[in-house]
Amino acid sequence: MDMSGFAIAIMAAGKGTRLKSKRPKVLHEIGGRALLLHVVSAAATVVPAERIYCIVGHEAERVRSAVEATGVRFVLQAEQRGTGHALQQVKAYFAEHPGEMLPRHLLVLSGDVPLIRPETIAEICEVHLRESAAMTILTAVPPDPTGYGRVLRASEGGPEVTAIVEQKSLTPEQAGAREINSGIYCFETAALFGKLDDLSTNNAHGEFYLTDVAAMLVTDGERVVAVKAASVDEVLGANTIAEMMHLDQAMRLETAKRLMSQGVTILRPDTCVIDAEVTVGPDTTIEPYVQLLGATKIGSECRVRSYSVVQRSVLGDGVLVRNGCVLDGAEVGDGAMLGPYAHLRPESRIGEAAHIGNFCETKKVSIGRGSKANHLTYLGDAVIGAGVNIGAGAITCNYDGVHKHQTTIGDSVFVGSDSTLVAPVALGDGAYVAAGSCITEDVPAESLALGRSRQVTKAGWVAERRERRKKLQVKEER
Ligand code: UD1
Ligand code: CA
Repeated sequence: MDMSGFAIAIMAAGKGTRLKSKRPKVLHEIGGRALLLHVVSAAATVVPAERIYCIVGHEAERVRSAVEATGVRFVLQAEQRGTGHALQQVKAYFAEHPGEMLPRHLLVLSGDVPLIRPETIAEICEVHLRESAAMTILTAVPPDPTGYGRVLRASEGGPEVTAIVEQKSLTPEQAGAREINSGIYCFETAALFGKLDDLSTNNAHGEFYLTDVAAMLVTDGERVVAVKAASVDEVLGANTIAEMMHLDQAMRLETAKRLMSQGVTILRPDTCVIDAEVTVGPDTTIEPYVQLLGATKIGSECRVRSYSVVQRSVLGDGVLVRNGCVLDGAEVGDGAMLGPYAHLRPESRIGEAAHIGNFCETKKVSIGRGSKANHLTYLGDAVIGAGVNIGAGAITCNYDGVHKHQTTIGDSVFVGSDSTLVAPVALGDGAYVAAGSCITEDVPAESLALGRSRQVTKAGWVAERRERRKKLQVKEER
């Protein structure tokens, strides 16, 4: 369809009072992404970004910086006096920017109606053109229409609309009306701009309602039509946290279904929190209560056990993530095994078939193929070779209170349990560190380092002490 005559305005200036939140409503997230970004990306599939106008106002800078990278334009609505007032700012914007082509048709989207699909946007535009309408309204008939504006049709079954009435203004006769206004419209720009200045604030909220334009156009003999969305879900608005979490769940279930259709087993999809950008290879199993967040990529034939949270991480094939692991910004090679309860912090690169076990923490570290740190270690700011064994409780002391320092460990090194490697320090290939050592100097390849005092054993000491005590007791009793 030819969309060259269209621009899109997205209303995103409102505060979202009903959320009781400091964060602007359109920056609240569902499916791990701000509401507004969902709307922008749907809009960007039908017109180029420079034909998208985001109306910002409440916390304008914060909203702007959250979507700036998409290349959309911004229209400031400094005071938020209603949806009609928001569009008045768009009219003013075009008057102030004569260089920007005034679109013949203006599609208006709401920043808080995030599940809208590109197909539906295209459809409303198509109907708008086919019906030669001045205004086309996207509607739906949800089970519970409470809170939404209602669309009143001229006749049952006909496309023509007579008015949109807000919930609070419904007369007793209109109270039964069930067809809701989605907050998504297509306008003939000239017809819309011709009416905006005539809007009044004479209503329950004391705001300029964009919805009033419908009846005003009808009075002028203009054609106003309604088109029902294919699914109710995609036009649901998000005015409260509860409504938002309802949409969040719907979106995440869609993501889980998509992954399952690609061969992923998700044992209890309703318990998992999976962001929309996550990819998972076939034959991987995701156990209940797992979170996969951000741009996480998981290979095939992996298993992610319950209560693990994997964020912004890339896992190869055949990786086992045991229960309770936390990964953020990690890269994990094929066949590696993690956890239970491993914590991989940013820039952890775990090599193929490596093991990072119980209560191990890694940060800014690369660990070579087949190396193992199975219990209770901290490895940070380190480069560790292949086939290395890090004993239980061994740690890199990477921080001197001011600066971070590097630890370098070659291939096939054995670090005994409870050793402390005081960085900067290097252990050559095949080096051995005796258990309990405090290593402050480099250890050459193939060498043994003992960094602890020699054990002293006093034979018979316990019996002697017992005797001494006995004698003392006898003295006291006398
Ligand atoms: C609006 C519609 C209602 C419809 C519902 C669908 C009006 C008067 N009512 O009601 O008929 O059923 O959407 O979800 O339009 N905004 C601004 N500037 C403002 C006020 C709002 O940009 O001054 C933005 C908000 O950020 C939001 C959108 O416009 O993204 C809708 O505003 P909101 O206050 O949520 O309207 P509703 O009461 O939901
Ligand atoms: Ca709303």
